[in-house]
Amino acid sequence: MVNSSMAQASQHLIRGRVLSFISEPQDSGDSRSYDYYEDGAVLVEGGLIKAMGDYAAIAAQAMPGIPQTDHRPYLIMPGFIDAHIHFPQSQVIASYAAELLDWLNDYTFIEEQKYADEQFGEHIAERFIDELLRHGTTTVAAYGSVHPQSVDAFFRASERRAMRNIAGKVMMDRNAPAALCDTAQSSYDDTKALIARWHGKGRLDYAITPRFAITSTPAQLEAAQALVREYPDCYVQTHLSENHAEIEFTCSLYPDAPDYTGIYEHYGLLGEKTLLGHCIHLSGREVRILAESRSVAVFCPTSNLFLGSGLFDRDGLRDAGVRIAVATDIGGGTSWSMLRTLDEGYKVLQLRGQRLNPLASFYMMTLGNARALSMEDKIGTLQAGTEADIVVLNSRATAAMRLRMDAGSNLAQELFLLQTLGDDRAVVQTYVAGKAVKSA
Ligand code: GUN
Ligand code: ZN
Repeated sequence: MVNSSMAQASQHLIRGRVLSFISEPQDSGDSRSYDYYEDGAVLVEGGLIKAMGDYAAIAAQAMPGIPQTDHRPYLIMPGFIDAHIHFPQSQVIASYAAELLDWLNDYTFIEEQKYADEQFGEHIAERFIDELLRHGTTTVAAYGSVHPQSVDAFFRASERRAMRNIAGKVMMDRNAPAALCDTAQSSYDDTKALIARWHGKGRLDYAITPRFAITSTPAQLEAAQALVREYPDCYVQTHLSENHAEIEFTCSLYPDAPDYTGIYEHYGLLGEKTLLGHCIHLSGREVRILAESRSVAVFCPTSNLFLGSGLFDRDGLRDAGVRIAVATDIGGGTSWSMLRTLDEGYKVLQLRGQRLNPLASFYMMTLGNARALSMEDKIGTLQAGTEADIVVLNSRATAAMRLRMDAGSNLAQELFLLQTLGDDRAVVQTYVAGKAVKSA
């Protein structure tokens, strides 16, 4: 039994304008899709959310004398979730390249070799997490390098900050520098050992991570398939259909496959826990297979624009029943910020003739991505019983934002302004498991 002084010691009341989504907003006036409390509060106890609602009601439930943080008039939301990011590309961001395959060969495959050095990996893992938290991101699905020690470094750093994160070592045994290649057997053995060390440990989960079909032999994709069969509750993450030259090369390597998606289908890599980065140039058959397998297509707008890869067809995929997530894809992506990412996402969809309403954007960065990761019972919402990962946002963080806010706004307009003009300067505080963690 928890005695009352222990409960009091671990309780904390966070006050502000509280916003948490319940369902996917259908339009910018869909007020049934979220809970919103103008003078709201979140009561945190032992790293979990104990209650959310009107301040007066929540304060009445709290133990007397507990610490309170008053963030009024800022918005309090669930921490942002990034469904596809490469931790060893923290120093690749902003590299001048023509397109995907050049960028991989000229920068990424050079940089990732540094992660053979575990101490270097530790150093960058800490900086990587600092950046995430400064930008209000509290959960990521991350790729490591080919070196298992890079993933150990990442998980250790995540554990030190009590973050809920997913990661995996990339499996790659061809079409890359020798120093970055494992083998089908070593990738299987290393992945198995990492799963044993980290999967389900605290807030950490493992993703079986064949980088993409170009850098895996059929034997390695068979090894990945064996891992998926042995560990069906692990995630799977890879890249799919990002760029025309990539697709052409991929299909030449797997001539018997009907298409790119058919390769992953053949090796049993699709399913509810599979996260597929990009998914831009897909045929009708491929879209159908993604929908039927319940796989997740991950929209990476800043990366798709930066590398000139193409325009994601959100409406087409959604209408076909494909589950969708959104992500930065650092270092192909150009911003750590989910606000900047959704701003670019909005523009990509404008070019497609599609509209992304501002409520839907903030749903996607929070509950939408939590659902894509099958984690909506844990993160992406401020519902009681979920984990207290929280971001606090200031819609007047810069002079330009203040100028625009002075013209007046309702909630949807304010969110759109945060997305269009906001970045890490708009993030006042980030809480992980109830603890304030934003560094200056
Ligand atoms: N395809 C295979 N590897 C990568 C990567 O690191 N980044 C992107 N954007 N695409 C990839
Ligand atoms: Zn990627």
